[in-house]
Amino acid sequence: MFRTRRLRKKEGIRRLVQETKLSVDDFIYPLFIEEGKNIETEISSMPGIKRFSIDRISKELDELVDLKISSVLLFGIPARKDEEGTQTWNENGIIQEAIRYIKIHYPKLYIITDVCFCEYTSHGHCGVIMDNDVDNDSTLLNISKQVLSHANAGADMVAPSGMMDGSIENIRQTLDNNGYSNLPIMGYSVKYSSSFYGPFREAAGSTPGFGNRKTYQMDPSNRHEALREAKYDNQEGADILMVKPALAYLDIIRDLKNAYDLPIACYNVSGEYSMIKAAAQNGWIDGDMVMMETLLSMKRAGADIIITYFAKEAARILDSNNI
Ligand code: PBG
Repeated sequence: MFRTRRLRKKEGIRRLVQETKLSVDDFIYPLFIEEGKNIETEISSMPGIKRFSIDRISKELDELVDLKISSVLLFGIPARKDEEGTQTWNENGIIQEAIRYIKIHYPKLYIITDVCFCEYTSHGHCGVIMDNDVDNDSTLLNISKQVLSHANAGADMVAPSGMMDGSIENIRQTLDNNGYSNLPIMGYSVKYSSSFYGPFREAAGSTPGFGNRKTYQMDPSNRHEALREAKYDNQEGADILMVKPALAYLDIIRDLKNAYDLPIACYNVSGEYSMIKAAAQNGWIDGDMVMMETLLSMKRAGADIIITYFAKEAARILDSNNI
């Protein structure tokens, strides 16, 4: 008889044959930084996640350092919004100030910036509006300005999330022409038009004022299209390819992992976080165990890097080696 249970008999052997292991090095922690003073606002749909002004952020950053979480993904919430999101390239804008602050006080933290406009535009869309839609090529011009100002402020990596065609090529050229040929790009290569972003939009104040994002974000039905998106980002010079959301798209993570030799990232998005938190608060699931199991599923699917609001909690559990 085939006795596969032999290798499950004891804790020691189970550890030896474990195929996938999570590590704190896998995680990127998203941070919401709001312009203003003395702000520390809990996001009601994301228990445990807050928006901070720069003068209140040190507690959070100390915690990350203590937990050995080495990378953050920054989202800015500006005081003023306008049609084009011009605050994204203001050298004294919220992200630029935050980068400088973190670099001075936490020089070891690796700073990745989300490159987009939806938190900065009055209409909440990810670029310049023309004829009731986001215009691709005029948005590319603004992306260049934004990326350059993030690089000038000291960002370590940029991550364009707007799903504009040609953005990786455009950013690579901008960076190379301005002395940043060593600054990597993580493409939000395969980003679906997903209802799992709901809580984030509350957190970042970025709900579109009209329509939806279906003309730029992908249809959840599509798998071949994901390979096309990834192919172009790869050819245009992305250093890391990302799939977003993660949990409902594990098949896509695996497709990309099999097809490319670049590191694959996934974004364990706000709605995925909130679902687990809500069920755990109701006592319907064991929140910690379900969190670790879902993070593991992303890694097993092929993600080398996981962007997750759970990073701190997962790091604590990994540290105590409970699971
Ligand atoms: C902005 C952006 C979004 C998220 C990350 N970057 C929202 C969106 O596309 O509406 C979502 C992240 C999350 O839900 O955690 N372009």
